[in-house]
Amino acid sequence: MKILMVCLGNICRSPLAEGILQSKVNSKHVFVDSAGTSGFHEGELPDNRSIEVAFKNNIDIKQQRSRKFVAEDFENFDLIYTMDESNYKDIIKLSDNENDKQKVKMILNESYPNQNLSVPDPYYGGDDGFKNVFQMLNDACEVIASKINNDAR
Ligand code: 4NP
Repeated sequence: MKILMVCLGNICRSPLAEGILQSKVNSKHVFVDSAGTSGFHEGELPDNRSIEVAFKNNIDIKQQRSRKFVAEDFENFDLIYTMDESNYKDIIKLSDNENDKQKVKMILNESYPNQNLSVPDPYYGGDDGFKNVFQMLNDACEVIASKINNDAR
C-alpha cells in the first residue's frame, strides 16, 4: 500500500500528515510520502513550526524535502489524500482517467465523513494554527491507520 499526502507547498500540512501516518503504520507494508501542488518550496525542509509541533509529539520530519506532485504519482500511489478543496481540484485536473480520480480523497473525510472539510493553511498564522492542524491530521490518520491495520489482519 502506497499513500501520498498533498498540500500546496509541501512544507506545512502534508509533511505533518506524512510523518503522523508513518508513525501509526508498519513501514514494511505501507509507504507514505508527500508532495505539493506547487513547486514554490522545492527541495526545502518542512516549515520550522511543523518540525516543532511534530517533534513535541515524538515525530521527526526533518529528513523530508519538499517536492512537486507529478503525473506519475497517479501510477505510483494507491491513495492520494489532499489537505483542502483547492488541492483536491488541482489534483483532479491532472488526472486523466476514472481510476486515477478514485484515488484522490479529502483527508478530513476520514474523520468527518462526507463533509468535505479542509485542513486550514497555517502558513501565515501563528503556532496555534500548527497545533490545530496537528490534531486534525492526527485524528484523520488514526482512522486511516486503523482501516489499513484491519485490512492487514
Ligand atoms: P502548505 O502551506 O501547503 O501546508 O505547505 C503553505 C506553504 C507555503 C505557501 C502556501 C502554503 N506559500 O505560498 O509559499
